[in-house]
Amino acid sequence: MKRKVMDIVQEKPWMGWAIFLGTIVVVFLIGLLAASIMERRGEADLVVQAKPIADWEPRNEVWGENYPREYETYVATADTSFLSKHGGNGMIDYLEKYPNLVILWSGYAFSRDYNQGRGHYHAVKDIQNTLRTGVPMPGTCWTCKSTDVPRVMNERGVGEFYKDKWINLGEEIVNNIGCQDCHDPKTMNLRITRPALAEAFERRGKDISEATHQEMRSLVCAQCHVEYYFKGKEEKYLTFPWDKGFSAEDMEAYYDEVGHTDFVHTISKAPIVKAQHPDYELFMTGVHAKRGVSCADCHMPYRSEGGVKFTNHRITSPLETISTSCQPCHRESEEDLRQDVEERQDRIEELRQLTESALAKAHIEAGFAWEKGATESEMQPILQLIRQSQWRWDYVAAANGLGFHSPVEAGRTLGGAIDRAQKARTLIVRVLARHGWTDEIPLPDISTKAKAQAFIGLDMEKNRAEKSEFIKTVVPTWMENAAKRESTYGAAR
Ligand code: HEC
Ligand code: HEC
Ligand code: HEC
Ligand code: HEC
Repeated sequence: MKRKVMDIVQEKPWMGWAIFLGTIVVVFLIGLLAASIMERRGEADLVVQAKPIADWEPRNEVWGENYPREYETYVATADTSFLSKHGGNGMIDYLEKYPNLVILWSGYAFSRDYNQGRGHYHAVKDIQNTLRTGVPMPGTCWTCKSTDVPRVMNERGVGEFYKDKWINLGEEIVNNIGCQDCHDPKTMNLRITRPALAEAFERRGKDISEATHQEMRSLVCAQCHVEYYFKGKEEKYLTFPWDKGFSAEDMEAYYDEVGHTDFVHTISKAPIVKAQHPDYELFMTGVHAKRGVSCADCHMPYRSEGGVKFTNHRITSPLETISTSCQPCHRESEEDLRQDVEERQDRIEELRQLTESALAKAHIEAGFAWEKGATESEMQPILQLIRQSQWRWDYVAAANGLGFHSPVEAGRTLGGAIDRAQKARTLIVRVLARHGWTDEIPLPDISTKAKAQAFIGLDMEKNRAEKSEFIKTVVPTWMENAAKRESTYGAAR
């Protein structure tokens, strides 16, 4: 005769306790197991390096022999097929899409060539190929492009690296951004390899070696995805202008204090600061940073493969991986989350284009005022307004992600840019009236990239010819010499 558990328990009360305690023990053990699995995520990979990695090893494929999953997903940053509404990994010609930019950068190499960034796997080729590297540049320009940078800095000294000519370092710098830039080769811990970041922390009274693990998951990116300038006429020392803070106003105050200008605009004569890509700074003003979310949380989500959980090293637009990038924290559907991103970007795009159009006109109208005999002292306040406006605009425009990282701050900053551009234009009208001009100010046709480039006097055919000569003759020699040098790496193997 079958007896039910409850009958047994009624007959023998100790049996109930035994089942109860047994259950507690089992639950406890399962908990322990789960915790240890979580802790060991990736650890199995780390314990033994089948092939020890030498200090300063620049070759990603050598690191990849030990860490095939991370390496394979890293190599996938070569893909350029994913396009989102405003971003993705395709190479978009921004000057073609927004010809006003050519006017804003008249007198600066960005007016020749400016494309949307691609994956880390393309970094070296893209800097060799851009028409912007036809002008003389310091070694500093290589700093955020390659795993060879920490190696050469270690060999020659940081100051010497920056001071050298870009062209002289070409045969040293050939491996794309990768493992060495973010990891210690022995422990695989995240580490900072670019001195400028540690130095900027120091000037703010902080020690970067005390950063938390979660902070490091953003700081490895902040080695490169930041605003910077080259300090000193000769030194060209890479410096982040963070002493007063991260907002456009804070960094502007820094630049004004040290008297920094990247170029004098050839039409308006305004002294312009070109923003680089203040991704980390703008991000830090937003709600995700405030809640402790890191760059890697969205751009390097965890992935599972055959029961192994690892970090996806295909760093690109998170809109390609919404389920692993966003849904661990947000319960909304993929479609809703994509819309949330696009709606914010659409609004920033609208403000950004208003600014670009006002600024392009301000430069051209200021040029017209000079032609009509405006004086230095009349133009001075106008040129300051244009400088301030263009810096604010560029702080948002040059940052990647079209404002998504901090939409409210991006909108506020563009508001300040539009206000200053329009104030400059109003002052120009008054100056012109004083010099007897009360008609409309004539504006040229700058509706395409080619027309805008012709208007600012660029000889693009010559630029392109020089570049293709450089790619045919200089670059292959760099690659040959670099290949010879490879035997000196990997001493520890
Ligand atoms: C909350 C998630 C999130 C965090 C955290 C985050 N990003 Fe982004 N990022 C995005 C989204 C969404 C986009 C827009 C992608 C698009 O338009 O396709 C983006 C775009 C970018 C882009 C341009 C990529 C492209 O395809 O156009 C870069 C570069 C970038 N982020 C760098 C960073 C850096 C550096 C950090 C940390 C300082 C960071 N992001 C933190 C979500 C995030
Ligand atoms: C731009 C910075 C960056 C680059 C480049 C990079 N990693 Fe990582 N890597 C990370 C981050 C962030 C993590 C997550 C670490 C954490 O949270 O502890 C990580 C984690 C890892 C881990 C731990 C296991 C895991 O998957 O979470 C390994 C192993 C690893 N990376 C290998 C590599 C290799 C090999 C390369 C070169 C092919 C590479 N990484 C390039 C940033 C980077
Ligand atoms: C050593 C410098 C360096 C480091 C470190 C670095 N990046 Fe980049 N990143 C770049 C450069 C340079 C590019 C543009 C490459 C190109 O267009 O050829 C880029 C491109 C990108 C893109 C655009 C990719 C695409 O598909 O459009 C994203 C997103 C990005 N980085 C995010 C990150 C994140 C997140 C981190 C930290 C985990 C990081 N980067 C660390 C220098 C760096
Ligand atoms: C690690 C957790 C985490 C991840 C990953 C994350 N978020 Fe968030 N997100 C938050 C938190 C926390 C907030 C703040 C709102 C709150 O406290 O409820 C937030 C706020 C937002 C907001 C509203 C704030 C704003 O800036 O307008 C949007 C939109 C958003 N997230 C979209 C995304 C998208 C899209 C992704 C993926 C690309 C993503 N989030 C990834 C935690 C996360």
